[in-house]
Amino acid sequence: MAKESWKEHGYVDDPVGVADIKGAIAGLKKSRNAVIMAHYYQDGDIQDVADYVGDSLALAQRAARTDADVIVMCGVNFMGETAKILCPDKVVIVPDLNAGCSLADSCDAAALQRMKDEHPGHTVISYVNTSARVKALTDIVVTSGNAVEIVGSLPRDEKIIFGPDRNLGSYINRVTGREMLLWDGACHVHDRFSLDSLKQLKREHPAATVLAHPECRALLLDEADVIGSTAALLRYVSSHGDGEYIVATEPGILHEMRRRCPSARYYTPLAEGRLSGLNVCEYMKMATLPKVYMALLHGWPAVEVDPDVAALAVKSIDRMLMMSAELGL
Ligand code: 13P
Ligand code: SF4
Repeated sequence: MAKESWKEHGYVDDPVGVADIKGAIAGLKKSRNAVIMAHYYQDGDIQDVADYVGDSLALAQRAARTDADVIVMCGVNFMGETAKILCPDKVVIVPDLNAGCSLADSCDAAALQRMKDEHPGHTVISYVNTSARVKALTDIVVTSGNAVEIVGSLPRDEKIIFGPDRNLGSYINRVTGREMLLWDGACHVHDRFSLDSLKQLKREHPAATVLAHPECRALLLDEADVIGSTAALLRYVSSHGDGEYIVATEPGILHEMRRRCPSARYYTPLAEGRLSGLNVCEYMKMATLPKVYMALLHGWPAVEVDPDVAALAVKSIDRMLMMSAELGL
């Protein structure tokens, strides 16, 4: 929007031109009693203005216990929906509602219902990267930070449908020895890391530790030294310190890795078929400082979830939070 239009709409100033936009955000945050939460895949400047930066599990846990009136969720829509389901009386804002998720989009609620009908007697476990409607059809939500432990804690003979990430599902089957039925979905970022590029990096940096997110394909996970959620990969870097790391996950995480361990060296594999560039999630990069400022100024765009859907979805999210607490996660 041109600066003149900002003024026509009654705004005090064009936020892009606000010299101290971080200061302006801090002021609005205080006056609105708002909390800013950000995922590790967000741009560094968003992570820097956030009160709390975390993985999907920690963001849900924090949202569930915040006493702020407004939650600005700098992530993608399913994260805002999860927060809204947990905190229906709060205003939950995602700075740009176009921030979808290819993985969540790969699982449609009607098709999941058909799969459930075809496989009666199965417990449905869904990754948090799903729509509220899919969560409403789910028995237990999981994140990459608790999926292995939650599945592992269920009786061995429990029949399970797991969705939507086939890579995470195969990984869980492998480490828990289960045979869950898998939904055939994937994240377009993690699914396209190039094996050749990863191997090339390993040849160039033989001392480097390979860190990989379980949304990557099994071929890449087979090359990894450490497999874990964004929080788990960060914990590994914090506890092992300086060195070299090949990081197979969305590169927004490098901001926090560099903050925790500035003198370590980090390399990220390319996307399949690409000769250069970072393999980024464009949805995660939709939040910008001006959008956060405008969101706080106007309490918009607010996330809404159909109350009937939310009433069902909250059960599967609560079950995850309870099981995580019991498992000490
Ligand atoms: P985690 O933060 O749970 O590792 O999630 C990764 C992710 O893909 C979020 O979009
Ligand atoms: Fe979805 Fe993948 Fe982006 Fe995460 S990185 S928000 S799973 S598209």
